[in-house]
Parts: sequence; structure tokens; C-alpha cells
Amino acid sequence: MRVLGIETSCDETGVAVYDTALAGAAGLRAQAVYSQIALHAEYGGVVPELASRDHVRKLLPLIRQTLAEAGLAVADIDGVAYTAGPGLAGALLVGAGVARSLAWALDVPALGVHHMEGHLLAPLIEDPDPVHGRPEPPFVALLVSGGHTQLVAVEAIGRYRLLGETLDDAAGEAFDKTAKLMGLPYPGGPQLAALAEQGQPGAYRFPRPMTNRPGLDFSFSGLKTQVLLAWRDSDQSERTRADIARGFEDAVVETLAIKCERALDAAAGEVLVVAGGVGANRRLRARLQAMAAARGGRVCFPRPELCTDNGAMIAFAGALRLAAGQRDDATVRALPRWDM
Ligand code: KG4
Ligand code: ZN
Repeated sequence: MRVLGIETSCDETGVAVYDTALAGAAGLRAQAVYSQIALHAEYGGVVPELASRDHVRKLLPLIRQTLAEAGLAVADIDGVAYTAGPGLAGALLVGAGVARSLAWALDVPALGVHHMEGHLLAPLIEDPDPVHGRPEPPFVALLVSGGHTQLVAVEAIGRYRLLGETLDDAAGEAFDKTAKLMGLPYPGGPQLAALAEQGQPGAYRFPRPMTNRPGLDFSFSGLKTQVLLAWRDSDQSERTRADIARGFEDAVVETLAIKCERALDAAAGEVLVVAGGVGANRRLRARLQAMAAARGGRVCFPRPELCTDNGAMIAFAGALRLAAGQRDDATVRALPRWDM
């Protein structure tokens, strides 16, 4: 089954084709992502109406480009998967409308996919590890994006149990807001991480929120305030900015690692899957790898471009569900808020 995946939940237009007849990463026949970062940069954040309009402009050309790269005609598509939520209402509607119309015109099924399920299953797109094979449920998933920070017990594909989540800011949101308050341009997360590479470890030490009491929930908004105070009282030099960035990153990474280890203990599992934009963070990857290795377990990440928003994860998650016979009715589904 060749499934076209469409992602338009926020500021990335993502399109991909996943072919279930080809195993592993080869199943990803083609993918393309168009980022609206430059469009929103001058406003310091995503402007929903501009996002919707840009999806309208970019989606059809991107579908044509992706099909051409896959060497497929539109008639070769057997199903269409789209992000039905959560996300920006207008942006979601663009993807949902196009996906539904295309499926109707081609007389193939369409399926609305949960954006976070897409992220969560993205690591399974990759070729199986030569030693350990593909991570099979049950496993623990850490979802860390700009909108979510969740620990989820994946009991089976489609059966998810929430173990813990953020009570305020998401990890990516904390990266972005912290970057902004130290004067870095939008979207600051990756830039803050790059800056942290040059910072001196230990020069600034920030608290690891909610790690000194039991539980798997997170809170990152206080950390941002701590950084604000440190930055305000500093000489605000480049060197200090890098040192603070390093201190902030270490606090987030350490907090996530502590909770992941607790989640593995609670779920009595040894496989951790990490997904979402913050999963692209180099230091987080290294820290979780070390934690898993020390326990004799393993941690699986998708390649960095499958961590951030993309159409491949939607095509893949949709393909699994469509291949299992799941179908939606003809409703155009756009759910800005939707619990997984
Ligand atoms: O999953 P994603 O692309 O979009 C959402 O669904 O939110 O995640 C984007 C988030 C942003 O907050 C961005 O700052 C963060 O992921 N991010 C990073 C890195 N790359 C992206 N945060 C820390 N380090 C990175 N290398
Ligand atoms: Zn996302």
C-alpha cells in the first residue's frame, strides 16, 4: 500500500510517500518539508493566519514534487493520511481539506492521524538495529516537542498510556522562550543548543525541576524565570550567553533523563523511544544513550529530520492503520485539541 502523508499542523508543510511493500527505511519512497521559519521570524513566533495561507501556497507543489521524486503518478496512491490534530485550526484544515479531496477524487481511503502518534512511531521507520532489531511494543516513549512533553507507555500500536507530562511549558517551548529572552532570533531552540556547545559546563547551574519528588510529570516554566534572572544580572557578554545556554540545556537534559529512567523503572521495560523536535538535541541523545547503556537497555531515536515535524511520520502512522483496515468516514477532521 502506497500512502501519501500530509502534515500541516503548525509551521512546517510536510509531504511523504510510505510504501508498506518495502520494509524499513526503504519504505519511505520520498519526502519533502517546507519550513515557514523565515515567514514567522520577524514576528518572533508562529502567526496562525500566515501559517494557514502559506500551507495553501506550498502544499500542492510539494505533493507534486514528492510524487515526482518517488517516481509515482498520483493514481499510484492507495491511501492518504493527514494530521488531524492537535495543532493550529486553520493550518490543520488546509492539510485535512486537501487530503480528503484528493482521496475522494482518487477513490481511496483517507485517515486522520494524531500528530503525536506520528512522532511516536517515527523511530519505527528506521531500519532495524542489526543487533537488537526494531523496537517492538511494549516500550516507553519520550515525546518532546514544541507543544508536548510526555512520557507514554506504548503497550501496542494504538494502545498508549500516559505516564507523565508537563504541567506548564513543553521542553521545546522552554528552549524557544529561553532563547528569546537572551535575544536569540526565532525559533531559538536549535540556536540555543548550538550556543550551549560553546558554553562552559558548570559555570551556571539551574535547578532540575520536580526531580526531588516522586512522579513523572514535568515543569519547565520556572527554569525560564531562573535563566531570565541570571541573564539580567550578568554582563550579557557572548561568553556568558553561551555559559547560561549550557547551564539551561544541562538542566533540561538532566531532568528528562531522570524522568525517563524512572519511567523505565515504572514500566519495567528496557526500551526507550524518543521522538519530537527536542529529540534532535545532541546532548539529550548522548545523555539518554549513556543512561540506557548503564542499565543494559537501549534507546532509539529517529534521524534528526524525522524528529522535527515532517510528512514521513504521518504517512507511516497512517500506513500502519490503513493497512490494518482502519477507515475514517468522509468528515474533514481538524481537531486543534485532541488527546492521544
Ligand atoms: O516536533 P517539532 O518539530 O514541532 C512540534 O510539534 O512542536 O518540535 C519543535 C521544537 C521547537 O520547540 C524547537 O525549538 C525544538 O523542537 N528543537 C530543539 C532542537 N531542535 C528542535 N530543541 C533543542 N535542541 C535542538 N537541537
Ligand atoms: Zn511536532
